[in-house]
Amino acid sequence: MTVALWNSRFETGIHVVDAQHKSLFEAVNRLAVSLGSETMGDSVKESLDFLAKYALEHFQMEEHFMGEMAYPGLTAHIVEHARLMKRVQVLQARLAQGKPMAKDVTAFFAGWLKHHICETDMAYVRFMKVNYQER
Ligand SMILES: [Fe+2]
Repeated sequence: MTVALWNSRFETGIHVVDAQHKSLFEAVNRLAVSLGSETMGDSVKESLDFLAKYALEHFQMEEHFMGEMAYPGLTAHIVEHARLMKRVQVLQARLAQGKPMAKDVTAFFAGWLKHHICETDMAYVRFMKVNYQER
């Protein structure tokens, strides 16, 4: 099942970022596949754990990258990442308590990802291009 469909408007032009964003889309779709057959089994847990781990690694990479270039929007960006991670952790805790996961959670992740890339990530990409590439 594909809930997060990649589109060229999500391309930042930074190879490593685009590759990781595509992997995040795949992780959301993998969770959607798991939720297609069950709402709280091993497959759901593994898919959510993978998404959590991969998102954290990606966010840390971006935050390091933004810190290196002294990006002024870094703090606000970190807050957005942290809010998403908190949401994921709440879902992980619910699963651990044996509570089922709502299937529409993947639509939320897909929507968050698309909006975050187009608005929040593109802002640091513009900053980078203006300040570091066009000199
Ligand atoms: Fe980001």
